[in-house]
Amino acid sequence: MLEERKKKIEETVSYLKSKTSIHPKVAIVLGSGLGGLTQSVEIADEIPYTEIPNFPVSTVKGHKGSLIFGKLNNTEVMVFNGRMHYYEGYPMSVVTYPQQILSGLGVKCIILSNAAGGMNPTFKVGDIMIIKDHINMFGDNPLLGPNDDTLGPRFPNMSEVYSHRLIKLAYQKAAETGVHLQEGVYMGVTGPCFETPAEYKMYHIMGADAVGMSTVPEAIMAHHRGIEIFALSVITDLGIVGQVMEATHEEVLQAAQTTGPNMVKLIFAMLPEM
Ligand code: HPA
Repeated sequence: MLEERKKKIEETVSYLKSKTSIHPKVAIVLGSGLGGLTQSVEIADEIPYTEIPNFPVSTVKGHKGSLIFGKLNNTEVMVFNGRMHYYEGYPMSVVTYPQQILSGLGVKCIILSNAAGGMNPTFKVGDIMIIKDHINMFGDNPLLGPNDDTLGPRFPNMSEVYSHRLIKLAYQKAAETGVHLQEGVYMGVTGPCFETPAEYKMYHIMGADAVGMSTVPEAIMAHHRGIEIFALSVITDLGIVGQVMEATHEEVLQAAQTTGPNMVKLIFAMLPEM
């Protein structure tokens, strides 16, 4: 099983290497409604997920599904424009396939972005929240099953999944560019239902500031592989006690698109020093 998976990853990596001359140092995963970042990338190569061997294809509206190689602020990057979600019915191994090919391509850092519901009463729709930690509420884990000790440890230390160095860099660049930042804990859930008022309340009591349906499995996998992680949530709706403002998927996309430019400004400024 491990050998088979390794072969698949090698096949994907060598295909991608044959398609681009970019040597990405940073990978970026774009969340719902955050695809606008691609307009700032000097694109060298864009490959639809459907053409990449062994690559899963996302089915969600607002997730285009292509892999872009190029430069952003003079930094060589790869951009996953669209991600696979657990709620689409994919197993964790498939949801986290993109994170499994990073080391083979020489990537050192990953930026994970998502749209999320805010539960911290100081949050507003359109805020950007730096993810300082997460709670895995999926009831599943991408590292279940046999472990390949050559790729990462059986029992990963999770005390610093989200790089303190990159969080510090984000604050520095936010001050320089005038981008307002919140910081908090992200609760990862399966979805596809948004939360009931009682669930939002429970998750906040449990210590989370925002809740969403992605990012946690990807962060676990990338961390296992020794990739340095920076992650942020765009707050697209509120699950605050007394003012639950449940969104539709369309409203989530709209709110993310409005905040997108500020997120791009921050990432753009950070990249050369990542
Ligand atoms: N809950 C879960 N996932 C989400 C939300 C939310 O309120 N908003 C955007 N993604």
